[in-house]
Amino acid sequence: MKINLNSEANPQAKIIVALDFPSTTEALNLCDHLPQVCFWKVGLELFIADGNTILRELKDRNKKIFLDLKLHDIPNTVAAACRVATKYGADFLTIHASGGKAMMQAAQAEVQGSTTQLLAVSLLTSISSVELQSDLLVPLEIPDYVAKLVLLAKDSGLTGAVCSPHEVAQLRSLLGDEFCFVTPGVRPAGSSFGDQSRVMTPKAAIAAGANYLVIGRPITAAPNPVAAWDNICQELL
Ligand code: C5P
Repeated sequence: MKINLNSEANPQAKIIVALDFPSTTEALNLCDHLPQVCFWKVGLELFIADGNTILRELKDRNKKIFLDLKLHDIPNTVAAACRVATKYGADFLTIHASGGKAMMQAAQAEVQGSTTQLLAVSLLTSISSVELQSDLLVPLEIPDYVAKLVLLAKDSGLTGAVCSPHEVAQLRSLLGDEFCFVTPGVRPAGSSFGDQSRVMTPKAAIAAGANYLVIGRPITAAPNPVAAWDNICQELL
């Protein structure tokens, strides 16, 4: 069934745990250790290692899947990849908004009527404002460029976008309540930032307007992932 963005009464259902592992075996070890998690993110590393297997295994366990492949190619190629992703039951799939409106519309046409919903990736958070202007030749400040790309994604019919929790409040006011925002860069109070620099707590990110949170290492690399999960859920209650 297609995810109804406004029906997640249970705060735990808003947490997507990132399976950033190099193999299905390691990923499923964690899944089976944390049966209370209902939504998992499969990214490029795991998908390239073992794509079909991990998606089938997650669906066999009745889990929701955020397939974070950040597709970016000509419209025909991206649309074809989206068509295949619908067959594997991916619930969310990411494509780059910078691929343009024709690419996003072609991708959206392929998922229409399926349970797969498309999320736009705007600007990678690794790109600085200096790189944006001097390497990519975009004469805009980051928040303005991100807002432009996310608006283009909405105009192209996409369900939502991935953004930093620090951008979500402003984007929510521009895009309205029906657009879905998924935010990584979330850290429970007291946990290590890792390589994330601009973080927010789970509660603050939801309060700022995020529909879903993507959380990886604070759970997956915790000495006790079950306790880490429980603490985050408690914070959201
Ligand atoms: O371990 P951590 O909580 O930092 O994981 C965050 C997840 O979100 C990773 O899978 C990462 O690829 C993803 N992500 C991110 N920042 C973005 C987009 C995606 O951290 N801008």
